[in-house]
Amino acid sequence: MALNDSISHVILTEEDIRARVRDLGEQIGRDYGDRPLLLVGVLRGAAIFVADLARAMTVPVELDFMAVSSYGSTTKSSGVVRILKDLDEDIEGRDVLVVEDILDTGLTLKYLLRNLASRKPASLEVATLLSKEGRQQVAIDCKYVGFSIPDEFVVGYGLDYAERYRNLPYIGVLKPAVYAD
Ligand code: PRP
Repeated sequence: MALNDSISHVILTEEDIRARVRDLGEQIGRDYGDRPLLLVGVLRGAAIFVADLARAMTVPVELDFMAVSSYGSTTKSSGVVRILKDLDEDIEGRDVLVVEDILDTGLTLKYLLRNLASRKPASLEVATLLSKEGRQQVAIDCKYVGFSIPDEFVVGYGLDYAERYRNLPYIGVLKPAVYAD
């Protein structure tokens, strides 16, 4: 497949992602056994990861979604998290796994985890596909991490810039010229 013109280089290929998601699915399946698990995908970035992760699991899973906004269309975290869509399910007494595409400053997950913990789930863990090295401002206990990546502006496989590039099957670094203007 030809590289998108806005991408300087690929850091995780489609094959890299597929293999890692399959491993994570198996690991999560082993950890939860037959306990029904509620996957909470955090829209919009995690939509593609949670779809693939759910299909990499053979344990009984249900899916729910939250939509939050922390960045708007800029590249810097504002630290302000808004719930745009809440869960449809009551999670009291449930095993809940929050599924994120990327852990950057940690501010989004800090807010989300505190919010979800107050609803008294039986357990609450996090799976993130990506974790940016050296960026966390708050400590987040992420049980499942797909890849640690350098602090570069990455898009693809759910991650966007100004809502574009989410559909790229790989994860690549955006050319600075794309977000310079
Ligand atoms: C991204 C990502 C996380 C958050 C991580 O969401 O999906 O939710 O940023 O950043 P943090 O660790 O610095 O809080 P974004 O607000 O870009 O929305 P999106 O998922 O709709 O792309």
